[in-house]
Amino acid sequence: MSAQFPAARPRRLRRTPAMRRMVAETRLDPAELVLPMFVKEGIDEPSPIGSMPGVFQHTRDSLRKAAHEAVEAGVGGLILFGIPAVKDGTGSAADDPDGIVQLAVRDLNADLGDSTVIMTDLCLDEYTDHGHCGVLTGSGEIDNDATLERYASIAVAQAAAGSAVLGPSGMMDGQVGVVRDALDGAGHTDVAIMGYSVKYASAYYGPFRDAAECAPQFGDRSSHQQDPGNADESLREVFLDLDEGADMVMVKPAGAYLDVVRRVRDAVEVPVAAYQVSGEYSMIEAAAEKGWLDRERTIMESLLSIRRAGADIVLTYWATEVARRLAR
Ligand code: PBG
Repeated sequence: MSAQFPAARPRRLRRTPAMRRMVAETRLDPAELVLPMFVKEGIDEPSPIGSMPGVFQHTRDSLRKAAHEAVEAGVGGLILFGIPAVKDGTGSAADDPDGIVQLAVRDLNADLGDSTVIMTDLCLDEYTDHGHCGVLTGSGEIDNDATLERYASIAVAQAAAGSAVLGPSGMMDGQVGVVRDALDGAGHTDVAIMGYSVKYASAYYGPFRDAAECAPQFGDRSSHQQDPGNADESLREVFLDLDEGADMVMVKPAGAYLDVVRRVRDAVEVPVAAYQVSGEYSMIEAAAEKGWLDRERTIMESLLSIRRAGADIVLTYWATEVARRLAR
């Protein structure tokens, strides 16, 4: 018997599209995609975001339309960010029952009912005039525990409006526990929490700060968001959030932290979300615009990689477009 070389030929399983499809280890499904959406108070027309081509600050009406399109395409959920007309030191618009996000959540619940999952980002940076995620002490530091009191109140306002999942994203210590207690105390025991458990102090949030008009007026977020070099610390954050009552956990950003996504996926038994953030979106859009990258292929590869790393749910600004592509 003359042994043929090579004995193993992995290329056999790559020969045809049908073969590759059959043996694919990872697939994308629209149901696991979540679309982040911006809604701004006091504008008459949707306003394009310069650094995120194709993404808009919505009016209440244009939000309804875009949300309807996303759900029709099969997108699994929507997460809302509000930009109030007036910002102040404590972010008072954030927990106003008639604040922009609360109104938008009511609109979308009326339109879409149980056909999707309506979620809300829970933070102060979109609402404060200084652009920080919390309230400040006299010397300009973020006051962790005073901020928690604000988060508790925002949580109750968002839940009362009908948000099904709250995403506390400010990286204050104890935020998940405080939000859980506040929700339960107000009778919202059914409202879930998706902890932004692992959130790095990332340059990839740059374009979001245009989108939400929330660039910090001084300083940065390194005193509360994580140092990009740390990975063990992410597990500590995840376990703290689970102890405090998080129903799901998130890693953010996604693409530059795929190792962390994998480690979290291997360590926990709850759904793991990953947020493909604004900078990840804008990089690919910009390179594609220059003709340097194949836009569609790069988008699909970026999302597949996040799923392969272990994310069950992916937040992405391309959710509607990709859901449509998957359907055809
Ligand atoms: C905080 C928040 C941010 C993002 C989501 N929630 C900004 C920040 O922490 O600076 C960034 C999302 C993105 O870049 O797409 N409310």
